[in-house]
Amino acid sequence: MNKELGIKVTTQTVPKLLGLCDLNTMYQILSFILAFAVGVVVPHGGMIDPPGRNYMYHAGFEGTPPNWNWQAVWCNDVPQAIDVPESTCVYMEYVKTKPAKIYKFVLEILTLSRYKERHGNPKHVAEQTPYCLGMCGDVPSDPAPRENENGGYYGKATVGKNYTAGSIIDVRTEFGAAHYGYMEFHLCQTSIESPGCFQKLAIVGGSEDIIPEERMCVPYPNSETRILTARLQLPAGVRCNRCTLRWTYRTAYPGWGGMVNQGQNHPGQDTVQKWFSNPEVSKSEKWGWHECAVNPNPAQVFRNCADISIQ
Ligand SMILES: *[C@@H]1O[C@H](CO)[C@@H](O)[C@H](O)[C@H]1NC(C)=O
Repeated sequence: MNKELGIKVTTQTVPKLLGLCDLNTMYQILSFILAFAVGVVVPHGGMIDPPGRNYMYHAGFEGTPPNWNWQAVWCNDVPQAIDVPESTCVYMEYVKTKPAKIYKFVLEILTLSRYKERHGNPKHVAEQTPYCLGMCGDVPSDPAPRENENGGYYGKATVGKNYTAGSIIDVRTEFGAAHYGYMEFHLCQTSIESPGCFQKLAIVGGSEDIIPEERMCVPYPNSETRILTARLQLPAGVRCNRCTLRWTYRTAYPGWGGMVNQGQNHPGQDTVQKWFSNPEVSKSEKWGWHECAVNPNPAQVFRNCADISIQ
């Protein structure tokens, strides 16, 4: 008798238990175990205040599903072009880079298994993936509503924070791994978002430098956990019982070589990686190096949508 499970373990038990769990549940359980086994949440960042839809469980909202890999809403790690309009999806060959770590590999396998269960044919999922993000960070070829969209797996229509119209709000984002680039925010005024409804919000301050086009820099703490705060101006005339605040983080990775230097002392385009692995350069110097680079090459992009109310 296994006391913890309270059931008699026989040769039948495992298949029975497996029968109870669909792949989705298995994915959640295994991601949970993996996340704790390696002591980290697999990359890279997310919006915690207001909570992004897939972070709500972790912020204590009952009835919302957990995502132990909540920092990784990034179109299945497909680098995104900088100027692809949201409504257009260009298909590209996605050359899978060799996963550096075994946990990443396992998570990718699980992601693919889950995809297979939901969509049947995973054959070209890894090889041929849309070259643009879904409006809330999902893979655009997933059937709508996608996981992080209203009505999707995490889109439970639960308001995570109430705000006052016209106020300046502090939005907090947490990073387990950040690779430069910038973040920006959009607001969709309707309760059910659509790709065309997002309007960029003004950033009036924050924990990092603000650069043109209402963007806030993201530094390079690499695997150190950091919380970055952006101060946003909510429009005076917008009120909603539920609307969508969206965070987009465009990293400068990969493709460092083509980064546009925005005036900071640049260690040299081709030597960025070497510079960071050089033990003679102090951590604080690396941390303080603000390359608010707008990388013109396809780069990793993360997105979170949060349900908020504005009164
Ligand atoms: C937002 O305000 C509503 C109405 O007062 C309240 O029921 C709800 O609990 C608030 N939500 C949060 C997250 O504070």
